[in-house]
Amino acid sequence: MSAILALEAKMAKETLVPADDRSDTFTTEPATPAPEARVAKDTLTITDNRTGRTFDFKIEHGTVRALDFRQIKTHDDDFGLMLYDPGFGNTAHCKSAITFIDGEKGILRYRGYPIDQLAENCSFLETSYLIIYGELPTKEQLDQWVFDITHHTFVHENVKKFMDGFRYNAHPMGVFISTLAALSTFYPEAKQIGDASCRKHQVHRLIAKTPTIAAFAFRHMRGMPYVYPDNDLSYAGNFLNMLFRVTEPKYEPNPVLERALDVLFILHADHEQNCSAAAMRGIGSSHADPYCAMAGAAAALYGPLHGGANEKVLSMLREIGDVKAIPEYIKRVKNKEVRLMGFGHRVYKNYDPRARIIKKIADDVFEVTGRNPLLDVALELERIALEDDYFVSHKLYPNVDFYSGIIYQAMGFPVELFPVLFAIGRSPGWLAQWEEMLDDPDQRIARPRQIFLGVNERDFVPMEQRK
Ligand code: CMC
Repeated sequence: MSAILALEAKMAKETLVPADDRSDTFTTEPATPAPEARVAKDTLTITDNRTGRTFDFKIEHGTVRALDFRQIKTHDDDFGLMLYDPGFGNTAHCKSAITFIDGEKGILRYRGYPIDQLAENCSFLETSYLIIYGELPTKEQLDQWVFDITHHTFVHENVKKFMDGFRYNAHPMGVFISTLAALSTFYPEAKQIGDASCRKHQVHRLIAKTPTIAAFAFRHMRGMPYVYPDNDLSYAGNFLNMLFRVTEPKYEPNPVLERALDVLFILHADHEQNCSAAAMRGIGSSHADPYCAMAGAAAALYGPLHGGANEKVLSMLREIGDVKAIPEYIKRVKNKEVRLMGFGHRVYKNYDPRARIIKKIADDVFEVTGRNPLLDVALELERIALEDDYFVSHKLYPNVDFYSGIIYQAMGFPVELFPVLFAIGRSPGWLAQWEEMLDDPDQRIARPRQIFLGVNERDFVPMEQRK
């Protein structure tokens, strides 16, 4: 028996006592009392109509434990009832204290602080500290944190050689993901995931080096020499320096663009249990080192339904090209030929609060860069979609990616870099989720179940008898 099966069997024995053995909690009689006698209890009573047996399950934090259902069996050899939830639409896989989202009300908070207050008042590094340590830093804590991050921005020279090996037109997200994984070989001590101070060191390195790797991937794509980090500059300012510096002896970032980029990073810093955070936790649950886990999280982010969406928004806006073509495009969306990229969200069934903040940043950025002509298409598309029955009834609103791409493009980033920018911003979120998972005694290796619908046992067929 594998270790995980043995552990599950042990848990089942300890916590899931069959109804007949725990007559105080589980009964085989119908448990519904007369309405006047009903007293509120934090339990869920379930009757299995196949057997007539009734079970009481504890409700805690608005959830029941999925493993409790395994005691619902038709006979002794029955594996027990499982819950079927593809895409984890209604499954809490962890307890978390990092990010709160109320999708119906359009609320997003990091550690209790509303996203708009953080975007207004904090820097990205201050927000990262909050997300990772749970509290806003004091002045001394912030100074130390900024120092620690700033002094880990360089990468080993061999990383450059390794990156040189990629084809001239390599997508920077592929380069970014591979290089993150490669860092695991430079820092083998990162495998000591149980050592808090070692973990802290890797957190510094990962937050510090992601912009350097991203910028090198961009310069490689452009065929330009790599620019080393400038530790006099801010996190976002230095990133702009590594991306865009050419011959100037000292790069001076435009303060409006520097702040806009910093705020965009804040808006992407965490988003509770999304696809990439779940990947980070899932990979981390096998005790892989954080470089490999974060490479996996970044790979999950790359897909067009997640962090790759802003790239797709821009191609969509280009394809539409003109406000006159919008009604025809909306028709195609409603016929389900295409999706309206940058619209819809698994959790937000109201306006994504990040999209609201981004729309404001757009004005500041366009004052410096000039107006992106695609903005008119985007604004009109949003207006028409929000009045249309299909979008209203499906609760489809603009998400964070609808406007971010237009801003990034105006700032001079090529579309291929968009998911990489998302990944830089999301790094503190991934790391906080990873550390929270490691510190949670409830967590075990991630190992979902399946409903097996394949062929049952059959005998091997020799080649000459196969049809
Ligand atoms: N355009 C048109 N119809 C849509 C869209 C869309 N963007 N999104 C969902 N729908 C429809 C879908 O066709 C389905 O309709 P019906 O019930 O009639 O069959 C219904 O809405 C539910 O769709 P779903 O795919 O079951 O919803 P989901 O919660 O699984 O998907 C989503 C969420 C974000 C993947 C999806 O809305 C989508 O594909 N959006 C476009 C891609 C995008 O912008 N992604 C970025 C998300 S925000 C950044 C991030 O956190 O990564």
